[in-house]
Amino acid sequence: MLAVTGSIAAYKSADLTRRLREAGAEVRVVMTTGGCEFITPMTLQAVSGHPVYTTLMDVEAEAGMGHIELARWADLLLIAPASADTLARLVQGRSDDLLGAISLACEAPTAVAPAMNQAMWADAATQSNIALLQQRGIHLFGPAEGEQACGEVGSGRMLEPLDIVSACSGLFATGSLAGKKVMITAGPTREALDPMRFISNRSSGRMGYAMAIACIEAGAEVILISGPVCLSTPERVIRLDIESAAEMLAAVEAQISGCDIFIATAAVADYRPVDVAEQKLKKQASTLTLSLEPTTDILATVAAHKQSPFTVGFAAETENIEQYARGKLEKKSLDMIAANQIGKQQDGTPIGFESEQNSLAVYWQGGEKNLPKMQKSRLARELVELIAIRINA
Ligand code: CTP
Repeated sequence: MLAVTGSIAAYKSADLTRRLREAGAEVRVVMTTGGCEFITPMTLQAVSGHPVYTTLMDVEAEAGMGHIELARWADLLLIAPASADTLARLVQGRSDDLLGAISLACEAPTAVAPAMNQAMWADAATQSNIALLQQRGIHLFGPAEGEQACGEVGSGRMLEPLDIVSACSGLFATGSLAGKKVMITAGPTREALDPMRFISNRSSGRMGYAMAIACIEAGAEVILISGPVCLSTPERVIRLDIESAAEMLAAVEAQISGCDIFIATAAVADYRPVDVAEQKLKKQASTLTLSLEPTTDILATVAAHKQSPFTVGFAAETENIEQYARGKLEKKSLDMIAANQIGKQQDGTPIGFESEQNSLAVYWQGGEKNLPKMQKSRLARELVELIAIRINA
């Protein structure tokens, strides 16, 4: 959750939003009245891809994602730029605007990136406010020194967006997979019918990309073998793009040696067309029959290696989750399997493939753990911690 408050540095918030998203974060923006004077909600809505929240007492907004829900949604409340007034209001615990209410209700970590005139930053009131906020566990990013918008020089500039992004990643660093090399498969595969057409599935790749980010945060080196997705490559991740199941298998086999952990989140096609037409297929008869043949199971292949890494599979099921997932754990000789229920919930909202949230039931020989419905980013962190525990067990 990015909160934009009243400071001229708010002009950098659009770039910050983009950079956060490039690093794999899902960003929702809250703006104070002061923030809206410096940059429009429309700009931040366009770059974040979500509605921007500005008012507390708005019946429509509260009916959508209310302030409590927003506070619960966030893994981090980042206030950038944080004006002098915002710092003072945080100290007082004010809740007469949306940001105030969210910051009180939010149990996730909070970080502030102050931006103000150097004399305002140096003032005893601001310094005592910031010291108190830090004592309460609020993280302080910056400010930087240098030339200011008002023409003065000194400390009080907001940190540059990329520096804020790396400070945010640092908050989630655990080191639990330090020194480990992880390979992750993600996204769908495409099985060609002809030069134009293919068979594929609805996998968004989000879970795999979230796993890649969580492994990086845990200190691992990550190779991501990715099918076609609309996601940017997370920082520090080595990404290899493939299209078909056969290409994914080849890329995995070429890179797997030396990997400690193999996480198969990809929705690999189980079948591919027997014949791929070299020229575009033309309409002919009134019906068309396709002949399909099985693809190689990449996960089972890796698990069967003599020196196989710790293997983690994913199972998407619509029913009998434990029975089917444990069946796959056994049959493919895996170390762990994370099963999720796909389809629609009773209220019609999607869960699994195309949604931002998911829940997982994780099974291994002699154990299991349920990870309840949460953001895929948080779910990935919890799963990575579980993998780290099982590897060291
Ligand atoms: N997988 C793989 N290579 C394949 C098929 C699947 O690596 N050719 C991996 C997936 O990445 C996932 C797990 O195996 O980790 C899914 O197992 P699978 O038995 O293929 O699941 P489903 O396709 O859902 O099987 P079923 O249709 O039998 O439920």
